[in-house]
Order: sequence, then C-alpha cells, then structure tokens
Amino acid sequence: MERVVALGSSRKANGVDMADILLQDRSRDGVLLLTLNRPDKRNALNMALVLALDAALAEACDDDSVRCVVVTGDERAFSAGADIHDQHLHGAGVALSDKRLAAWRRISEFPKPTIAAVNGYALGGGSELMMMMDMAIAGRGARIGQPEINLGIFPGDGGTQRLPRLIGEKNALRMILSGELIGAEDALRMGLVGEVVDDEATVATALDLAQRIAAKSPQAARLAKATIKQGLDLTLKQGLALEHENIRPLFGTAGQQDSMAQFVSRKAED
Ligand code: COA
Repeated sequence: MERVVALGSSRKANGVDMADILLQDRSRDGVLLLTLNRPDKRNALNMALVLALDAALAEACDDDSVRCVVVTGDERAFSAGADIHDQHLHGAGVALSDKRLAAWRRISEFPKPTIAAVNGYALGGGSELMMMMDMAIAGRGARIGQPEINLGIFPGDGGTQRLPRLIGEKNALRMILSGELIGAEDALRMGLVGEVVDDEATVATALDLAQRIAAKSPQAARLAKATIKQGLDLTLKQGLALEHENIRPLFGTAGQQDSMAQFVSRKAED
C-alpha cells in the first residue's frame, strides 16, 4: 500500500510539531495508543493533525511490535471534526485538497486492527474518524453527530457513505439532515459503537480489548480485516471466493500450526 510519511525527518506536519498534537503511548504490549491533542480546539482535525495521524499510522504499519491501534481524544472531545476556521478561510481548497484526501484514504485503509475510544463530542470528521476505526468504545456521556448541515455543507470525509452502511439509510438520513447529536446508548443501539462504559473507563476498556486482539496471530488478524473490508464491496459469491483465497496463506504459518498443535495435544492429554 502506498503510504508516504508526510512529516519527513523534521517530524513536523504543516509546520506544527507532530509530537505536540498527537501523543503516542506504547506502554501496553502490542498496542499503540494515539491521543489527539488539540484540547483547546476540541481536537478539531486541521491539516496538521490529519497528517500527523497519517504519519503515525504509516510508522505503525511498518512496525511489527504494533498489533493494534487505539485512537482517542480527551474527556471533552474525541474530536469536534474538521477545522471550521480552515474551511471558512480556504473552502473546498482545503477540504478537498489531494493531500488531505490522500491522508484520509490511507488512514481508512490502515491494515491492522483499530479501536476508537470516544469520550465527549465526536462530531463531523470526528464521527467519521470513529467510523473509519474497526471498533468503537464510547463513554456514557459521548455525543455523536454529523452537524455539517448547520454550516451549509454535509459530511465530506466518508459520512454520507459509511454512516448509512453502518446504521441504515433512515437513521443516517435523520442524523445528517437534522444535524442533531445522539447519545452513546442510541449509538450502541444503532451499532455505531460496540460498547458503552463509564466515561472514566473508556480508554482502559479499549486498551484491554486492544491487548486481547494484539495477542492473536497478526497475520490472521490482518487478513481477516482485509477480507471483511474488501468483501463489503463485493457480491456474496465474490466475497466467499475472496475468503477462501485469503485464508489459504494462513495454513502453514507459525500462528496456525502452533495454536492447532497446542489444541490437539491438550485434547490428547484429556
Ligand atoms: N473547528 C475549529 N475549531 C473548533 C471546532 C471545529 N470543528 N470545534 C470547536 N472548535 C474550537 C472553538 O472555535 C473554540 O476555540 P476558541 O476558544 O479559540 O474560540 C474551542 O474549540 C472551544 O469551542 P467551544 O464551542 O467554545 O466549546 P464548547 O464545549 O462550548 O462546544 C462543540 C463544543 C464541539 C459542541 C462546539 O465547539 C461545536 O459545535 N463545534 C463545531 C462542531 C462541528 O460543526 N463540526 C463539523 C465541522 S465540519
């Protein structure tokens, strides 16, 4: 996959130090925790933050010690979406710039398992980032929405396409046309998030899940994710063919042979 590290050796994204706007924590085995860090701007996703996220995931993609990534914000906001100040100044020139769209595409195509840990607001691009992640854990106080209609536009980072696929056409139309926010329990009921926990437990719950996933075969996880994601664009018949094609290389890997040998010998001892 094409994956350019936009920051280069300077570690800067659009003139901003990447380490300041995106915190990285690798203290849990196999897990990379990325924390969006523009708290005063409710973690609004300006170009620098999108590029920093892209670059961090590019590194994580090539780093075998990273097997699962958790993305979070802070207690007030996962992210309040695309930076409205930028879009007000530069319009479609920034919203639809090749650089920005390419970064979002690479983020959405990151091949390892990802989890969004969502507290506070997940709005606009913040909600769209959450949807790009494979799983989402939300704090009880989370408020999720696509309020772009209030600004005279509509979601442009995948919301019009991913939201109806995730929660159904009617629910998506309601959210996008009304701009109204939903709470964590409604998001759970619609399948937009997988679990709702106390706000204080959101990140820890996501990290625990990430650690359990990181303990599985990385090859199997990667191929399972690719098969599910690619299969969504296929007919059932094509998807089943893809499933068989993608499972074949797993037979013979250490992950498969060791795990099955362990199971069989355990049964033999019983
Ligand atoms: N883009 C740029 N800046 C944003 C932002 C965004 N999407 N969301 C919040 N901010 C900034 C505000 O401009 C403000 O900055 P300032 O202190 O320099 O003026 C700061 O974050 C705090 O925002 P504020 O509105 O005072 O916080 P709040 O807690 O009262 O409300 C929100 C939080 C998220 C409900 C509110 O900021 C909001 O509605 N944001 C826009 C959400 C949106 O429309 N997203 C889609 C974008 S296309």
